[in-house]
Amino acid sequence: MDKFQISGGRRLEGEVRASGAKNAALPILAAGLLTDRPLCLRNVPELHDIRTMLKLLGRMGVSATEAGGGEVRMDAGALTEAVAPYELVKTMRASILVLGPLLARHGEARVSLPGGCAIGARPVNLHMSGLEAMGASVSIEGGYIHATAGRLRGARIVQDTVTVTGTENLMMAATLAKGRTVIENAAREPEVVDLAACLAAMGAKVSGAGTDTIIVEGRERLDGCEHRVLPDRIETGTFLVAGAITRGRVRVTGAEPAHLDAVIAKLREAGARVAVGPDWIEVDMPRRPDAVDIRTAPHPGFPTDMQAQFAALNAVADGVGTIVETIFENRFMHMLELRRLGADVRIEGHTAVVHGVPRLSGAPVMATDLRASASLVLAGLVAEGTTDVQRIYHIDRGYEHIEAKLLGLGADIRRAPGPAT
Ligand code: EPZ
Repeated sequence: MDKFQISGGRRLEGEVRASGAKNAALPILAAGLLTDRPLCLRNVPELHDIRTMLKLLGRMGVSATEAGGGEVRMDAGALTEAVAPYELVKTMRASILVLGPLLARHGEARVSLPGGCAIGARPVNLHMSGLEAMGASVSIEGGYIHATAGRLRGARIVQDTVTVTGTENLMMAATLAKGRTVIENAAREPEVVDLAACLAAMGAKVSGAGTDTIIVEGRERLDGCEHRVLPDRIETGTFLVAGAITRGRVRVTGAEPAHLDAVIAKLREAGARVAVGPDWIEVDMPRRPDAVDIRTAPHPGFPTDMQAQFAALNAVADGVGTIVETIFENRFMHMLELRRLGADVRIEGHTAVVHGVPRLSGAPVMATDLRASASLVLAGLVAEGTTDVQRIYHIDRGYEHIEAKLLGLGADIRRAPGPAT
């Protein structure tokens, strides 16, 4: 398994371009199952998770290919098998996103239960109960969700927990249901809004995306469309933290500043100068950052996917920063690895108390999940000496060409063969 070898201490300077958002591209690819007409998607990032979704679609008889340059063409006209098998779903839990579209289009779906992952149990009960409210019969058989329905019917669904893919699954299913569906307490993430825009381009009648109440008027069928995936706000935020933690100056272009209000506010609170343009954000950090307190929340609150990155920033900051993770029950794995680099971290349940230290020291560390990997890379950029981040297959799931982008900013990072276990 590959690792990154990082020599710390280099200030990052320059420009880097944001890639398309993984967490928008994945539901949008699933939305292609809702129609027998072709979709042409642009700005799709070249990531392991995208390739997994394309493989999953291919297994169903869907033609889905990367045409190069971020373009993906798909056509579900020849859908033959409405099954998402365990061997693929276990590698990417976002496979659950095919459940709603398959059920709506095909009347039946068998999707392997995703199971848990490093950051938590990740149940999908709200996905299933929402589909049942729309008239589906949903059962668990041999580790698979088995859902059947005639034509789904519109329903009023109140999701007791804000769930991003839960909202997306039900919004997609509702586009072909008979009548009106209202999703209350819906997720407001920009990726939900981007999915809704793609569905509208396909002829769906969706309103309220981006608010906590989404209304869908079901249609008999949907058309194909062309759609450009929005920029990845978490990748953007990660590179802004890279600029801040190395006391450098980094501009992320091709970005959507309006999606990063909470992150920009925290960078400014940490002492960074942050300039914002129509499609770029620039961070300039002339000194050691100040520690900041973080409390994750559904959008537009501080994103849980940026929590690990700010843990790395707090690790070298002046002062004490507390980090409260309210979304997932086990998203502090990176804290234990940061300690190996010399971070002073105390975990008390869902709260991590980080006492900033003047410097970190390089050491071998192990990535456990996608954003934890990013946190360890950021820490390695400032740790004295060499940091080996092992199991970087995690990072390849969600960051397109990350070492090339960091090298372009002046980092000393290279990919190397890592230990087999
Ligand atoms: C999405 O995951 C993202 N993934 C995650 O990004 C992100 O961390 C998360 O939303 C929160 O923003 C994709 O969009 C592909 P949730 P999702 O359902 O939808 C509970 C990354 O790093 N819940 O919003 O799976 C759940 O346990 C990944 O790119 C239920 O209880 O997350 C959690 O506590 C990691 N029942 C909370 O809701 C359900 O049926 C939020 O989870 C569903 C969720």
